[in-house]
Amino acid sequence: MMQSALADPSVLLLTLRDGALLIGYMMLMTVFPDGEILNLAVMPEYRRQGLAEQLFDACLAHCQEAGIEMLFLEVRASNTPAVSLYEKQGFVTVGRRKNYYRYPKEDALVMRLLRE
Ligand SMILES: CC(C)(COP(=O)(O)OP(=O)(O)OC[C@H]1O[C@@H](n2cnc3c(N)ncnc32)[C@H](O)[C@@H]1OP(=O)(O)O)[C@@H](O)C(=O)NCCC(=O)NCCS
Repeated sequence: MMQSALADPSVLLLTLRDGALLIGYMMLMTVFPDGEILNLAVMPEYRRQGLAEQLFDACLAHCQEAGIEMLFLEVRASNTPAVSLYEKQGFVTVGRRKNYYRYPKEDALVMRLLRE
């Protein structure tokens, strides 16, 4: 696992590689003392092997160090794999944004994690 600083110091990019191949990544933006997960994806061939959970482990370790207390994210309401992952990580749904996404139009669930 590698962490790269982007030009914006409030954004952390976590990446997972298999050799030279980028197989997963997560982006976290800090608006202290909160964090927002901007994006998370694992390449289809590498899914269901616990890699997203590895990205979360690294993200939560960073949050602990940085003193980030609450994490937020938005996810398509129909995205069962992602919603299941977030619930497994302890996120709870705290809101719903009507027609937030386009192509196709869909509501977003707003989820929050209170870090222990
Ligand atoms: C969501 C995503 C990142 C999960 O990555 P992953 O590496 O396959 O996830 P993991 O193997 O770490 O799975 C961890 C948990 O997530 C949940 N999960 C993952 N894929 C799932 C699926 N297809 N169906 C149901 N639950 C799923 C399960 O709770 C799983 O725990 P379990 O293995 O004990 O059942 C991946 O499916 C993906 O890249 N999807 C496309 C991009 C996307 O939707 N990103 C989120 C945008 S908000």
